[in-house]
Formats: sequence, structure tokens, C-alpha cells
Amino acid sequence: MADKFLIDKAKTVLNQNFQKKGFTIPSKNLYPFQWKWDSGFIAIGFAHFDMEKAKKEINSLLNAQWKNGFIPHIVFHTKNDSYFPGADFHKSSLHPQSPAHIDTSGITQPPVLGFVLEKLYNIADDKEDVLNFLKNQIDKVYKNHKYFYSKRDINNEGLVYIYHNWESGTDNSPVWDDIWKTMNPPRYKFERKDTTHVDYSQRPTDREYDHYIDIIELAKKFNYDDHKIAKHSPFLVQDPLFNSILIRSNESLIKLYKILGGNEEKIKYLKSKNEKSLTSINEKLYNSSIGAYSHFDLRNKKNIPLICSSSFSPLFCGAPDFKKAQRLKNTLVEKFGKEDYYLCSSFDPEGIQHDQKKYWRGPVWINLNWILYQGFKRYKFKETAKRIKNDSLELVDKFGFYEYFNPSKENSKKNNKGYGGENFSWSAALTIDFLHEK
Ligand code: SER
Repeated sequence: MADKFLIDKAKTVLNQNFQKKGFTIPSKNLYPFQWKWDSGFIAIGFAHFDMEKAKKEINSLLNAQWKNGFIPHIVFHTKNDSYFPGADFHKSSLHPQSPAHIDTSGITQPPVLGFVLEKLYNIADDKEDVLNFLKNQIDKVYKNHKYFYSKRDINNEGLVYIYHNWESGTDNSPVWDDIWKTMNPPRYKFERKDTTHVDYSQRPTDREYDHYIDIIELAKKFNYDDHKIAKHSPFLVQDPLFNSILIRSNESLIKLYKILGGNEEKIKYLKSKNEKSLTSINEKLYNSSIGAYSHFDLRNKKNIPLICSSSFSPLFCGAPDFKKAQRLKNTLVEKFGKEDYYLCSSFDPEGIQHDQKKYWRGPVWINLNWILYQGFKRYKFKETAKRIKNDSLELVDKFGFYEYFNPSKENSKKNNKGYGGENFSWSAALTIDFLHEK
């Protein structure tokens, strides 16, 4: 398909998912609210053809920021019962610093906003207009980073924790399987809505949902108090993807503050935190026995030596030295890059837990591909970067703007479509960005 045609189709998806209240849903019915990291990627897509909508997207998300700097993973701008768990379940009002004017969740998602603001600035033709916008927004993102370093870095290592698998963005990754074994939640009574929109074989299991719900029940019991959650949550993980995104966003905030001028104290703070984060991500999360970065289970004090697409994300923030970067590339190409596979499967295709259909247990995701593409490009691994970009474009072109895709070329051909939500916003948004990149 010609680039122009694909871009037009992607724009239509974004425009159709854009809502009157000034935010964009990830996918009709399946995800009917505003999601944090989705919004960031969506804003990048809009920035290429409708900067006003890109700005609205960021504005409506930051408008739901809590007074302590926390940015929730879902903002419930409207009522809609096609999704579980909704506002009544999450009950953000339990936290004294949650906003009174809008309901949100009490968990977060990867801190993409720093690098998203930088992308908006780089894409904009009218730099002055975007700088005016940034002036009003950037401190909110800075405050969010301060929240992470002050509340979520309990050992003062420069590595922040997530307390829920939904915070990672990689919801049902096999990386969490052993953590679920340490819990024994009741069989909760709830009505799943996701499986009325998408086949069960492509979604997490009911038993997994019991664990997801159980952690939120615990957090609610503590009124979403960070200190108590850190002390008691059975799930407490330092995630290489989450931390790489935080580091990459620190870098962007520093650049933007320099452009804006007069923010010396903030720049100093971000630089010192970033230095520590970069040292720790290499010392603690790089695992030479597997040739990749891996997660650290802070609750059970052990490394989780499994390779998933997040394992390569530190390239995105410039963490590895060239030798480590080379090793990462080899691991990716050998394990994930076989000829009959699209890059990049969300979980090790050689692992026994790998499942080609099931959400984050194997399928290819366009947002992770976009992050890895930027990472490999940063290290000038041009061939690998190009392959990731080409595979991403081939998938959306052949099968449509789905949420995720079968990594096997043969099985993709047999299905002739992707998985999960259709007309999925970030798949469309990042296609637009890929096609604008030189
Ligand atoms: N991604 C989660 C879901 O599938 C929520 O953030 O519902």
C-alpha cells in the first residue's frame, strides 16, 4: 500500500477515536476511556497532522493529575459500562490527593510524557506555539518524575518500582507468572467485559484477573497510600521498560527546560537522578547470563531471568555501553529474529511460556516496536532498526491497525488479521510517525 494511503487510513482511525471531551480512546468498546501511555503515543501521531488535537490529548490527561504528582493510567472522562474494572471499582477518591472533579484509576503506566513533549516540539512547524504550550505543561511532568523518585524509589537506587502488572503496560507477560504463585487470591466475582469484545484466547485468564483485582483491593484498603503499598504489595517490581522510559523522559525534560531557559534547579535535579538511574539500570537490571536486561522482583528480592521485548528497551534511553548494546542486538536477532518471525515478539519465542495469540505473552506490539526502533537507531544498528520498522509497517498494512499481531509469518498469513482491538489508536498513530521518519 502506498505510504500516503496508509497514512490517510491511520488518520481516519485517530479522528474516529477522538472524543468530544478532547481525548482519544484506544479502541471502541474494548477501551472506552483515556489511557495514559496510549495518550502519549496518540499525541505523537496527531502532532503530524493536527497539533491542536495532540495538545488537547496531553492537556486532558494532565488535567487528571493528582496533587502529589501521580498520573493515573485511566481517566474516566465519561460513563461507559463496556469496560471492567471501571471508576466504581478503582475508587480514586480514597486517596486524599486525587482530583475531586474527575474519577481515575489509582495505578499508573510508563512515564512517556517527557519524550512525547519533546517529540511534539521536534515535529511542530510552529515552534513558538508549541513552546507556549510546553511552558504550561512541562512542570506537571517534572512533578510526576519527582513523585516517582520520592515515592517509588524506596532504596534510593534511581530505580522506581511498579506495584501492579497493569502499571508495566505488559499486562500478562510470563515475567509475572512466578509472582502469581506467591499469592492465593479468592475467586472474585466480577463480570469481565474485555472477553465480550475479544476472544478469550487472546486475553489474560480469569484466574490471572483474580490476582490483578486482589492487588487493587489491597491498595484500596490502604487508600492508595504509597508507603503502605510498598510495604505490603505482593507485587513490587523494578521493570526495565518502565525505568528506561523514565530515563528517556528525564533526558527530554532536560533538553526542553534548556530550550525554555531559566530552570537550572530542575535541570540539576533531573541530571543527578538520571545519572543514578543509568548506573543502577546497568548494575542491577543487566543480566549477562541471558544477554539482556531483566526485571527485578523487589518483594521477593530476586532477579526474574526471562527475556521479553522490554529487555531491549534500555537502548531507547542510551543505558548500555556499546559492548552491551552489541550483545542485546545479538540476543534479539538470534532469539526473536528468525526469518519466519516478525520482530519483535513480546516474549521469548524460545520460551515454553510463549503464546502467539495471548496479549503480552508473544504477540508483536507496535508501540514496543517503535521504542525498540528508536533504541536500535540510537546505537546506529541500522539494519535491525530498519527491520523492526519494516515489519511493523508490513503488519499494519497487510492486516490492519490491530492492537497486536501473531509473530509467526505463516500463522499471520493464515489468520489474515491481527488480534485484540481493531482500529487501535497507537498502532495508527505510530504508523504515521514511522512513515514521517527519515
Ligand atoms: N490494559 C489493561 C486492560 O486490558 C488495562 O490497563 O484492561
